[in-house]
Amino acid sequence: MSTAKCSSEEEELELSERTSAEAMEISRRSFVTAASVIGTAFATGLPALAEEQDRHVAAASTPQTFAIETTINGITHKLTLDTRTTLLDALREHLDLTGTKKGCDHGQCGSCTVLVNGRRVNSCLTLAATISGAQVTTIEGLAQGDTLSPVQAAFLEHDGFQCGYCTPGQICSATALIEENSKGQLSQVSWDSGRVHPGASVDLSDDEIRERMSGNICRCAAYPNIVAAVRAASGRAGVAS
Ligand code: FES
Ligand code: FES
Repeated sequence: MSTAKCSSEEEELELSERTSAEAMEISRRSFVTAASVIGTAFATGLPALAEEQDRHVAAASTPQTFAIETTINGITHKLTLDTRTTLLDALREHLDLTGTKKGCDHGQCGSCTVLVNGRRVNSCLTLAATISGAQVTTIEGLAQGDTLSPVQAAFLEHDGFQCGYCTPGQICSATALIEENSKGQLSQVSWDSGRVHPGASVDLSDDEIRERMSGNICRCAAYPNIVAAVRAASGRAGVAS
């Protein structure tokens, strides 16, 4: 190996080492620059961002309220409620009317049924905001003093319950059912039976009763007695059909 070649290799090696060192220096400088940018952002931008986020969280958790005036079981109530309050919670939590029961809280069991302007509704699916000015009747409002309503009396007479949890909803529903039929409102069974007289009430057969009470579930399966009670309350005494 000649002396000239050896010296050229050493120069190449030296050049390569210098280039690596410079590259490392550039990379170190880039890191310091980036760190300083991030530090500045922390010092200026991020607190503002955090404040904005805090404002959003506070706004979301601050209840928005509304005022309603409604008549429940003949008594006028003025309430100021969170906009998200359901009629069921307004009754139970704000008015202490705990006869209306919370079962599924999803509109599937009917235990929360009450009457709004005579129409049965699932109070768990009804926002209290929508009943301002309405007449609401709950299980507590059906009796006249110590005199039970015909449906209540029929449920007692026919033993239409076991644990009783679904019973307030069943009774409110049956009360509306009898009223709906007296106004000639039909069900699917009315059409299927072919006994339809438009505008007139239909014979409340047991199939009619089952169909019209199908939104009210009884986990004790007291159905035969519930049907018997509704049959009796509707004035149709006698044998099941
Ligand atoms: Fe309302 Fe079940 S609690 S339908
Ligand atoms: Fe128990 Fe109906 S009587 S759920």
